[in-house]
Amino acid sequence: MAPAISYRLIHQDKHSGARLGELITPHGTFPTPMFMPVGTQATVKTLAPEELETMGAGVILANTYHLWVRPGEEIVQEAGGLHQFMNWHKGILTDSGGFQVFSLAKNRDITEEGVHFKNHISGAKMFLSPEKAIGIENALGPDIMMSLDECPPFFESYDYVKKSVARTSRWAERGLKAHQNPATQGLFGIVQGAGFKDLRQQSAKDLVSLDFPGYSIGGLSVGESKEEMNHVLDFTTPLLPETKPRYLMGVGSPDALIDGVLRGIDMFDCVLPTRIGRKGTVMTSHGRLVVKNAKYAHDFTPLDDQCDCYACRNYTRAYIRHLLKADETFGERLASYHNVYFLLHLMKQVREAIAKDELNEFRQAFFEEYGYFKP
Ligand code: GUN
Ligand code: ZN
Repeated sequence: MAPAISYRLIHQDKHSGARLGELITPHGTFPTPMFMPVGTQATVKTLAPEELETMGAGVILANTYHLWVRPGEEIVQEAGGLHQFMNWHKGILTDSGGFQVFSLAKNRDITEEGVHFKNHISGAKMFLSPEKAIGIENALGPDIMMSLDECPPFFESYDYVKKSVARTSRWAERGLKAHQNPATQGLFGIVQGAGFKDLRQQSAKDLVSLDFPGYSIGGLSVGESKEEMNHVLDFTTPLLPETKPRYLMGVGSPDALIDGVLRGIDMFDCVLPTRIGRKGTVMTSHGRLVVKNAKYAHDFTPLDDQCDCYACRNYTRAYIRHLLKADETFGERLASYHNVYFLLHLMKQVREAIAKDELNEFRQAFFEEYGYFKP
C-alpha cells in the first residue's frame, strides 16, 4: 500500500542543510520548504479559502482539540470531512490536541492512558488518549495527522522530560496501531526532548523505528531563545530520515523560518501572521511595522513597498490604520492577508535561493533589510 504522504527531495543546498523538495498529498503536491497558515477552528481567521488559494497556500492547519470540543467531529464527518466542511480542497494538517490540552484546558491530569482535563469552553470533563486523538483525526479527514504527544516546558527537569519522551513514544506507537486510514491520511510522529541532546536522540530513534511517513519537531518556540532553538535543530534534524518530510511545529517568525530551513526543516506553521495582523502589526521587507501607530495617519503608501499582495496593491497604511482604530473587521482582514502573503512569498524566495545554492546570501540580505541579523 502506498503511503498517503510522501516527500521528494529536488535539490540540497550546497552550503547548508536546506532542502528544496515536494510534499505529495492526496489533495495535491506542494513545494517545500513551505509555511502553513493556521486555521484552528477550520478557518484561517478573517481569510476565505479562495483568498488563501490565490496567495499560493498549499497546506493549512486545523486543530483536533478545538473541532472535537466544537462543533464535534461527527458534524464535520457528516459534512463529508474537513475539506468539504470548510471548502478548502488543498492540503490540511491537524494537530493532535496534545499541545492545546496543555496550553488551554484546566485541571489536566496526565496518566499513561491519556490526559483528563476540563475543556476551555464549557468546563466539561474530557479525556484524550492517543487512540481517541487518532479516532477524531480519522473522522475529521485531514491529509496529515499528528500523534498525541506531550510538549513539556523547555526548562523542565531532565528526569521529567526523560519520562515524558518515553510516554510520547508509547503514545505514538498506540496511535499508529489505532490509525484506520493509512492509505489516505499520513500520520506523523512528534520528536520531543526539550533541550536535552540525548533525549532528542532517544525520541527520534523511537519514532524513526516506527516508520512514520513524516516527522514533526515539537517542544520548541515555547520560551527558549532563538540560539537554543537553533542549537536543538542543529542536532535533531540530522537524526531524521532524508526521505521523509520534517515539520517544525509552531514556528513562524521570518528569522526562525529561514534559520529552520538552513537546518533542514521542510514545513512550518504559526498563528503569528493572523494574530499580529488582527492587532495591527504587519511584517514588511523593512521589518515589523505597527500600522496602528499615529505616525501612519497621513501615510498613503502601501503596507510594504516591496509587496504585490491584494492589500498592498489596493490600500494604504492610512486607510488600514483608520479601519483598525475604528474596529472595522476589514482592517483586520487586510493586515492578516498581507502577513500571510508575506510569509508565503518569503518561502517562495527561500526556495529560489536554495535552487541557486544561495540561501546563506539570501539570509544575510534579508536581515540587513528586515533588521534582525546575526552572523
Ligand atoms: N505546536 C507547537 N508545538 C507543538 C508540540 O510540541 N506538540 C504539538 N502537538 N503541537 C505543537
Ligand atoms: Zn502586502
